[in-house]
This record gives sequence, structure tokens and C-alpha cells, in this order.
Amino acid sequence: MIVVAGATGNVGREVTRLLVEAGEQVRALTRDPARATVPTGAEAVAGDLNDPSSLARALAGTEALFMLSGYPPEIFAEAEKAGVRRIVLMSGGSAETGDRSNAVAQYMIDSEDALRASGLAWTMVRPRMFMTNTFQWLSQIKAGVVRAPWPQVPAAVIDPADIAAVAAKALVSAEHEGHAYPVTGPEALRPGDRVRILAEVLGREIRYEAQPDDEARAQMLAEMPEKYVDAFFSFYSGGKLDEATVFPTVEEITGRPPRTFAAWVRANAERFQ
Ligand SMILES: NC(=O)c1ccc[n+]([C@@H]2O[C@H](COP(=O)([O-])OP(=O)(O)OC[C@H]3O[C@@H](n4cnc5c(N)ncnc54)[C@H](OP(=O)(O)O)[C@@H]3O)[C@@H](O)[C@H]2O)c1
Repeated sequence: MIVVAGATGNVGREVTRLLVEAGEQVRALTRDPARATVPTGAEAVAGDLNDPSSLARALAGTEALFMLSGYPPEIFAEAEKAGVRRIVLMSGGSAETGDRSNAVAQYMIDSEDALRASGLAWTMVRPRMFMTNTFQWLSQIKAGVVRAPWPQVPAAVIDPADIAAVAAKALVSAEHEGHAYPVTGPEALRPGDRVRILAEVLGREIRYEAQPDDEARAQMLAEMPEKYVDAFFSFYSGGKLDEATVFPTVEEITGRPPRTFAAWVRANAERFQ
């Protein structure tokens, strides 16, 4: 039995689906099982990651846990108490920076450190920028002009399904214990490259416009706490995060290359109409 946290999210949903497909018994964790849609064959179970004691039932009698970063470290003790022996933690590239002054890196580093200190078997999965972040541009894509910051910053964007494929392998085999995996897509793309590919694949005119930093900052402040806005500016204006280096992890672990951005857009074309 394997528990998947974030099972209604971009990555967890795919982890759940892949494990069910592989014949595993899966509990899909969500705060609200009545409202959640989880892949067929998985059991939706209630639990709040911010309240580790609420996870006791979901974790009871399970062997492995797919976990997200940024939640209380007591979760790892709860897991151990319930019998879990292997945890696959999704953090991100910023966990590699060691920069605790950056609020995003800090929560990822803290989660990784707490897991390493727990004594449980661990695998860290460190994805770079998700292709699904493109949905943040949805209304702009429909309007034909995408105005987004950091025109010169490339990222080897990754399909969450490929992150999930790596995580699913690590959840069922001791082979990946003690490893921290950078997970990237096959090519580094600037925002303008991604917009060009969107236009080519969707077959219509979509233009990219570089958004000035001050305008981007004001927009982001309306959407998230200032410490996270500062964190993203430190990554992308301050050059503190390298998301451009391409790693062979997906192919090495799953036996097939990661999806290209063009293929991801094609598979999600309906969402962009
Ligand atoms: N986007 C990127 O470019 C990027 C890059 C690197 C790393 N990451 C990391 O990826 C993670 C997001 O993953 P994602 O995109 O797969 O998720 P997502 O689609 O944003 O969905 C969030 C998931 O977390 C669950 N969740 C949120 N709060 C919870 C709580 N208190 N208790 C239990 N479950 C909770 C939600 O479940 P319910 O609502 O059903 O409870 C949902 O399944 C973040 O931790 C982020 O730091 C993102």
C-alpha cells in the first residue's frame, strides 16, 4: 500500500494513476475526499498535511509515501509510527542552492533536511519549472499576447507526468533510496520560445511581450506573499537558480525520454482553445 499526497494535483494525480496501472494499492490523500476526483482504482482518503495527526488513518499499514515539501516535519514521525519505510519527497531545483534566505528554497531545504534526519529511506525528486505553469497564461494565450517577465531566462520545463513517472519508480524500488534526482524536460526554453511553440502547435498568432520587472512584481504581489515574490525575483532577476541545465534523469529512470514542450501543448491543445 502506497499513500500519495497531493493526489489531486498536477504531479500526485499522475503518480496515483501510474501506481494503480502498475498494480499497486494506492491511497490518494486529499483534504476533501467528497469533492476530490482521484484516478479510478485508488482510494481517496482524508488528511491535512498541515495537521500531521490527521494523517494517522491514511498512513496506517502503508509502506511508502509520496510527499510534497513545505509541511510540518512531524509528518515523518507520524509516517514512521504508521509503518511507512520509504518516502519520495518532491522538492525542487532550489533545494540545491542551499540558500535559506530565499523563502522558496528554505521550505524545500527544510523538508529535505527533516526527511534525511528522520531515519526513513528517502528519495528526493527535484523538478524544474513545470510545463503546467503555462496555464497561468491561459487568458493571454486566448487573447493572442503573452506578457511575462524574465525574457532572457531559459528553463528546461518538465511535464508533471514525467516527474510522476520518476517518483512512481522510486516509490516501488529500493534502487533509488538515498538519491536526489534533478528532473528536467529535454530542452531549455525562454518564455518567448515557449510562446513561439504554443503559436506553432495551436496554429494561430500568439505574440510574446517582455513584461518589465516592476509591473511583474506588482502583479505577483497581488497573488502571493511578498517573501515568495522576492524569492522568484532572486531566482530569475538575480540569477540564483539554474533551471536551464538539462539532465538525463527521466530517460535513465523510466527508459524513455521526457516529453517535449511541443508534445505537451499538443496533448493539452483543447485547454488552450
Ligand atoms: N510549478 C513549478 O514550476 C514547480 C517547480 C518545482 C517544484 N514545485 C513544487 O510542486 C508542488 C506543487 O505540485 P503540483 O503542481 O503537483 O500541485 P498542485 O497541482 O498545485 O496541487 C496541490 C496539491 O496539494 C494538495 N494540498 C495542498 N494543501 C494541502 C494540505 N494542507 N493537506 C493535504 N493536501 C494539500 C492539494 O490537495 P487537495 O486540494 O485535494 O487537498 C493538491 O493535490 C509545490 O510544492 C511546488 O513547490 C513546483
